[in-house]
Amino acid sequence: MLVKALAGVNVGLSPLLVSVEVDVASYGLPSFTIVGLPDKAIDEAKDRVRTAIRNSGFDFPPKKITVNLAPADLPKEGPHFDLPIALGILIASGQVDLSLEDLMILGELSLDGSLRRTHGVLPLTILAQKKKFQRILIPLENGSEAAIVSGIEVYALKNLTEAVQFLAKEIEIKPLPKVDFSSFEDRAEYDYDFAQVRGQEQAKRALEISATGAHNVLMKGPPGSGKTMLARSFPSILPPLTEDESIELTQIYSITGNLTEDKPIVITRPFRSPHHTASYVGLIGGGNNIRPGEISLAHRGVLFLDELPEFPRSVLEALRQPLEDKKVTISRANGTHSYPTQFILLAACNPCPCGYLNTPGKNCVCLPGQISKYTKKLSGPFLDRVDIHLDVPNLPAEKLTNEAIAEDSKTIRKRVVKARKIQKERFKSKGILTNSEMSNALIKQFCQPDKEGLELLKMAISKLNLSARSYYRVLKLARTIADLDDSETIVYKHLAESLQYRPKQL
Ligand SMILES: Nc1ncnc2c1ncn2[C@@H]1O[C@H](COP(=O)(O)OP(=O)(O)O)[C@@H](O)[C@H]1O
Ligand SMILES: [Mg+2]
Ligand SMILES: [Zn+2]
Repeated sequence: MLVKALAGVNVGLSPLLVSVEVDVASYGLPSFTIVGLPDKAIDEAKDRVRTAIRNSGFDFPPKKITVNLAPADLPKEGPHFDLPIALGILIASGQVDLSLEDLMILGELSLDGSLRRTHGVLPLTILAQKKKFQRILIPLENGSEAAIVSGIEVYALKNLTEAVQFLAKEIEIKPLPKVDFSSFEDRAEYDYDFAQVRGQEQAKRALEISATGAHNVLMKGPPGSGKTMLARSFPSILPPLTEDESIELTQIYSITGNLTEDKPIVITRPFRSPHHTASYVGLIGGGNNIRPGEISLAHRGVLFLDELPEFPRSVLEALRQPLEDKKVTISRANGTHSYPTQFILLAACNPCPCGYLNTPGKNCVCLPGQISKYTKKLSGPFLDRVDIHLDVPNLPAEKLTNEAIAEDSKTIRKRVVKARKIQKERFKSKGILTNSEMSNALIKQFCQPDKEGLELLKMAISKLNLSARSYYRVLKLARTIADLDDSETIVYKHLAESLQYRPKQL
């Protein structure tokens, strides 16, 4: 008898249907064959399915069993075919009488028959909903992530026995209630708040501008000046995630297995701070079974690269394309996958290898050659994508001990959100959301300064030797500063402030 169940597989972020066909023949010698999975995964799946069936009180039929995962040419990975295979075997061997119509089934089996948390359930649930399946069966632990999808009944199950009893209508299980997003904005918690950062008004101001226009930032300052603290506080002033953004991000985290029982849905903007010793694949993405890297886990949030010059040149080079295209494309023998990478880059570095160049009260012990080597690494084309160059000096003692409470992140965020609305309106037919994404043509269209502003700009070009690239960068940033000021026109003071954030030579 031939039984067909439906499951799916994630190819990048594009999930596809997989048909699980199980045949239990009444002739031939007992055997168990799976076709359509990589070699090693087949053996593991066979062991799990056979043992789980026995330990759930059923018989593993001593017959010729053939399982085909179709389409054959699709690379399939992941242990989540266990449950459809096991159910197929039980039905095809006549032990149970169930219908698998109109149903997607996903789940890895433990040897005792219980269902284990499986990667990539959310994108597959969305696929099932799009394909108009009425129901999906998934492991209990994946329940919360799947329950954000509306338009499909999600059943989260403990084990194989429960799946059989449920499908046989012997027990009643209710579909999970749809997750309500409206309460998330209040539930989103951030570990750090700008209220905890004393002084550093200029740095905070620059980060507010960055959050508003989604401009990348390089912070330069001696050790202990608060660069890491500022970066960690940054996500708390970004606009809250929308429901669509949250679902999009949760899909990426679902595929990489970064969801946990405590945090089954991504409701805050990500803050990813990979160490400079992290592997290339871990940062950019890739691997044998292609996976998104840190730059995609930072999507819609912040990628913080602390000690930027310590990162291998290959990584800095590889970041250029994702910074430009807002996505990363990874090619391997078994296919090409693309993942989104729309993050704000915050990078930090010391002014020199020892950290104390030009720091009052400290002596820099670096040789001139060392310093130029260090700064050269920072002058790469990669930094063309950085709009804000920020000096973060050590805080004077009186500021550090000042007990006055600084403005909190919530207040700053209100201004950011307001200025983001202006941008959304401005770019509604342009396919972008923020000022930092403007092409030179859009900069020409939307960033015309008034007469005095133009005078200042002309002076800056001749006196400061601004390159064409810096010229556009200054205008783009001035647009964001004017938006924060709720000013349609870019005027002198907006440009004057913008000019402060241009890269300075040492
Ligand atoms: N402006 C500040 N307000 C309050 N604490 C600060 C400030 N700057 C630095 N600190 C404290 O100093 C420590 C070192 O700061 P950190 O952000 O790690 O510096 P950096 O990354 O520049 O080396 C932090 O633990 C933080 O508590
Ligand atoms: Mg630091
Ligand atoms: Zn030094």
